[in-house]
Amino acid sequence: MSSNSPIDTNCMTLTRFVLAEQRRIPGASGDLSQLLNSLQSAIKAVSSAVRRAGIANLYGIAGQVNVQGEEVKKLDVLANELFINLLRSSFTTCLLVSEEDETVIEVETEKQGKYVVCFDPLDGSSNIDCLVSIGSIFSIFKKTSDGVPSIKDALQPGRNCVAAGYSLYGSATMMVLSTGNGVNGFLLDPAIGEFVLTDPNMQVKPRGKIYSINEGYTNNWDKAIQEYVASKKEGAKPYGARYVGSMVADVHRTLKYGGIFMYPATTDAPRGKLRLLYESIPMAFIMEQAGGTASTGTVPILDIQPEKIHERCPVILGSKEDVQDVLDIIKRHADLK
Ligand code: AHM
Ligand code: MG
Repeated sequence: MSSNSPIDTNCMTLTRFVLAEQRRIPGASGDLSQLLNSLQSAIKAVSSAVRRAGIANLYGIAGQVNVQGEEVKKLDVLANELFINLLRSSFTTCLLVSEEDETVIEVETEKQGKYVVCFDPLDGSSNIDCLVSIGSIFSIFKKTSDGVPSIKDALQPGRNCVAAGYSLYGSATMMVLSTGNGVNGFLLDPAIGEFVLTDPNMQVKPRGKIYSINEGYTNNWDKAIQEYVASKKEGAKPYGARYVGSMVADVHRTLKYGGIFMYPATTDAPRGKLRLLYESIPMAFIMEQAGGTASTGTVPILDIQPEKIHERCPVILGSKEDVQDVLDIIKRHADLK
């Protein structure tokens, strides 16, 4: 916004939006709002670190020393600490699952609340050092058991998600959130340091014109995926190809422009690469809430019962009709077997 632009004196900030949503649920305790506020603070801090990284020499190997002789934290280590510290001190969580930590993190008893948060604090690690867009992804569940939180509370299917979303550190910072009532997008306005509602009620088109997949692995896909991708290049109007290699950026583009994003099984990775709890489930939740589809190729991602916190699953998501085309080809190939 230029200095001459009018200032919106009644803007819908994310904090205000979350409070308004809370008000619609009679008897809501406000815990989810508090959690989302802490998450929002973590994301703002990560965004600031990402923006400053080149200048502040935040890049590099964990434990590296900068020109001032201070120890520099690698960006993904820093993002992880921010998420953990802010979620822990929100008094609303009991269990955290992070891509960066092998085991679940149990919040100190005196700070425990009823929510479980699974997150990838900084996704797209291969894109960090070359300044390509990266993001954070999260899913939020309610603890189901009584008493001491256990790993079982984290192993819930995506259908149980209370909220999910992501933040994208691209040409601007955006946070996309669903609390199960549609999808809304908020841009970070650096002038006021607030996320502001810019994309209300986001919907993914029924069909797009873009396919997004790492085509380097073509020979390692199964025949159905090979057939589908080949079909997108045929005809008078072939699809365009786009692949950032950062899931958040690729999914966000799919949400905004329509089309399909895939990370299928390969011969090297029979369950694909993406992690169920904090990559596939949150993105599937957002896609379904926006009117799209998210499948492994055989089952909806949100229906999978997780067995391990870091398990993987194949991902095919985006515009309903585009995803259906792939599912039809997969089914035809399976029936032939
Ligand atoms: P990461 O968690 O190590 O960053 O890996 C996840 C990323 C996703 O953002 C992206 O969709 C995928 O890896 C890209 O993988 P590939 O380089 O195999 O295409
Ligand atoms: Mg990741």
